[in-house]
Amino acid sequence: MSNSVLYHPGDGYLAWQQYRRNTAGVNVDQYAVYKHIVVDAQEGAVIRSAVDELAQGMEGITGTKVSISGDNESAPGIIIGIFGTGTGIDELFSAGVSSAVKAEGYAIQTDSLTGNIAIGAVTSAGILYGVFHLLRIMGTGGSVRQLSIVENPVNQLRMINQWDNMDGSVERGYAGKSIFYEDNRITGNLQRIQDYARLLASSGINAIAINNVNVHRVESRLLTEFLPDVAKLAAIFRAYAIKLFLSVNYASTMEIGGLPSADPLDSDVREWWRAAASEIYAAIPDFGGFLVKADSENRPGPFTYGRDHADGANMLAEALKPHGGIVIWRCFVYNCKQDWRDRTTDRARAAYDHFQPLDGRFMDNVILQVKNGPIDFQVREPVSPLLGAMPQTNQVIEFQIAQEYTGQQRHVCYLVPQWKEILNFDTHLQGEGTSVKRIVDGSVHGNAYSGFAAVSNIGNDTNWTGHLLAQANLFGYGRLAWNPQMSAEKIALEWIMLTFGTNELLVQTILDILMNSWEIYESYTAPLGVGFMVNPDHHYGPNVDGYEYSMWGTYHFADCYGIGVDRTTATGTGYTSQYARTNMERYESLESCPDELLLFFHHVPYTHVLHSGKTVIQHIYDTHFAGAERASQLAAAWELVKDQVGEQAYRQVADRLAEQAEHAKEWRDRINTYFLRKSGIADQWGRTIY
Ligand code: GCU
Repeated sequence: MSNSVLYHPGDGYLAWQQYRRNTAGVNVDQYAVYKHIVVDAQEGAVIRSAVDELAQGMEGITGTKVSISGDNESAPGIIIGIFGTGTGIDELFSAGVSSAVKAEGYAIQTDSLTGNIAIGAVTSAGILYGVFHLLRIMGTGGSVRQLSIVENPVNQLRMINQWDNMDGSVERGYAGKSIFYEDNRITGNLQRIQDYARLLASSGINAIAINNVNVHRVESRLLTEFLPDVAKLAAIFRAYAIKLFLSVNYASTMEIGGLPSADPLDSDVREWWRAAASEIYAAIPDFGGFLVKADSENRPGPFTYGRDHADGANMLAEALKPHGGIVIWRCFVYNCKQDWRDRTTDRARAAYDHFQPLDGRFMDNVILQVKNGPIDFQVREPVSPLLGAMPQTNQVIEFQIAQEYTGQQRHVCYLVPQWKEILNFDTHLQGEGTSVKRIVDGSVHGNAYSGFAAVSNIGNDTNWTGHLLAQANLFGYGRLAWNPQMSAEKIALEWIMLTFGTNELLVQTILDILMNSWEIYESYTAPLGVGFMVNPDHHYGPNVDGYEYSMWGTYHFADCYGIGVDRTTATGTGYTSQYARTNMERYESLESCPDELLLFFHHVPYTHVLHSGKTVIQHIYDTHFAGAERASQLAAAWELVKDQVGEQAYRQVADRLAEQAEHAKEWRDRINTYFLRKSGIADQWGRTIY
């Protein structure tokens, strides 16, 4: 592959794969003795990636080239091998270690006598992940003297969804154009794709859907005429142990198949999909399967034929089954042509109402992909009640790394704390302790498939994510999908050190920026869980009534007395009844409903007193003044690290933080002014509201 594009160390392109020589810390001297890699494994694309990565990483970290061979002539070396293949790798580990390593897992151990570091796994993917782990230790200045590590991924599917269109645009993309497509064809810049595959694999990702879930005419042909190019992409990802999926147009039979119907029970339709699947697997034997958005936001689906989602999904699943493929069927289904005057229809209810009754009807190679919340990736919403509510159905959770509603990568918003909160939420569906993370890792219901999916936040901007600090979300998503027990702080620390180095002031400053960023963003935008106070269509910036009289089902019902949506079972839309009793009761009652979700569940007067002791209106004013103030302090904090991060990184982030500070004031003033005018209640502290 050509290495035609030259990127400079400071521009963010290398992201968390800098492989630099850290000077700070007591452990860095330990790394330089490793000048030799021993490969005790059969040649293969993934092993080659692992060895290349290790060689490149060691060279960067130690400053000397390492040699690679089949024998360890000069200990200490780094020895990699597959367990149980008679190569002797098993003997380098303490008893029982190799049997503790599962499919994609690995073990790493330092031999105290020789200093050899062994990385063992049962698959080449495991080796690759083990290599990345070792490089992470060195990149963060950790000791390698006494390594004794066994790691297995907690989640089986750790997937990225690209919302890329073949015209080169990216739906909800905030970092330039697509790296996958230009001018309605697949890119020729395969180097960039490979670099992306490396980034993803190094954070633990093992699956990718390479096109937008909204599949239009030209993308429908990825299944057919573009298949040879898709196969090239699949080969690149395969070398990094990442399976390739395609988003498909549910009505492909009509769009490109020349059939008059897409009825899932029509035998011609079924046959068309069977043939299409066979063609795909002939070109890509390890193809992952299809991702489907059907009967959602004007995309076609089985409803047209009086069929349901199970009929639609099973038809595709049947076509993929003989090849070992899976169907990932999205549950983002609701009425997007609602009449705003109708207060009985509640978009929040929709996913559960549509899918829960279908439990037990999906084939075992179907997975339902459920957005983390019932509405749409807001800065704050409750956990989707559909998660865990279908014991006989495979489910994965869907997050959005792209910051559609959280500042669009112009504001800093580290999302891992939000994801952690969601994953730790106790659904109580099988009694106490039925957390979302246990549902999505498959351990509660013992499902065949489980895991994470998320909308990517990358584009062809040199630094991938537009806002350099938004790289932490991509990295963090992968790390969390691998192990949801990791703390948001630990993940942030890893990312900061790998990206910028280990200087203490630098690490602490960036950590503070990241760890406070979600709370800051929330405080100057939509208050108390109400959501959607954004400009229509592009969703950037404040517009309290932007969606109030629209058909999208996202309302706040503010009038001169109060605000919020009554979703209680007693007097509202009944949405609370979709939760297990404990949660239902907690949300149902004004006394126990958490402040941050109050307006999601209840319509209350502005004078309602929160648990915090403040009235709703005073809370709105206070958080908006404080939020904008805190946003402006982020820029000042970043100044502290100016000399440590390098000029380019400094500038990239400084510019965005300056924009954020200005824009936060706009949010503050628009929201505060709106509510002052609506309620007529003055700010207790007499601050300027317009
Ligand atoms: C959001 C987003 C759309 C996207 C949709 C989806 O509504 O704004 O652009 O297509 O989610 O998840 O399918």
